[in-house]
Amino acid sequence: MDNVILVGFMGAGKSSVGRLLARKLGRCFIETDDMIVAREGRSIPEIFATEGEAHFREAELEAVRLLALKRGDVIATGGGLPCREGVPEALRALGTVVWLAGDFAALYERARRARDERPMLASRSRAEVEALYRAREPYYRQADITVDTTALGPDQVATRVALALAERRSASGAARAAGA
Ligand code: S3P
Repeated sequence: MDNVILVGFMGAGKSSVGRLLARKLGRCFIETDDMIVAREGRSIPEIFATEGEAHFREAELEAVRLLALKRGDVIATGGGLPCREGVPEALRALGTVVWLAGDFAALYERARRARDERPMLASRSRAEVEALYRAREPYYRQADITVDTTALGPDQVATRVALALAERRSASGAARAAGA
């Protein structure tokens, strides 16, 4: 069974939507950030503070390699994880990739609510965070499915993702039947 992989900027709701979606679909839920925290034995802000961002990005690549062992799970990724050459393709090879998109202003507001847990927000102005977002968009855009989360709650987003996954499955089933 295919994994479902959620990507998107900080504040997109990957964790809360992922948890709800997994419950809806009867799947297990995992987060790459949790895999890294468990392996490193410290929190994300601590990893950034003591080892630096480059170390965290290496740990993300290792997490992507470990995801090859997963089957049928809902997986929430960290906001920067897919934003490197080759990673969008690696994620698509692991399952269906869903981009939780949204207006930058809405994402920024949501992300700032937990800014203490987000070292990428700590010393950046709003304009700098927006520049980061714009630089990352082309990577997120490579997802199989895009769902706009602006003005929606996590439950509504999870429902939209579940519908989009079902549509995609029936479209690919129909294409297979037509080709047979
Ligand atoms: C990061 C996003 C965070 C976490 C880390 C770095 C980023 O995850 O992986 O703080 O570079 O955007 P969320 O997207 O869940 O906040």
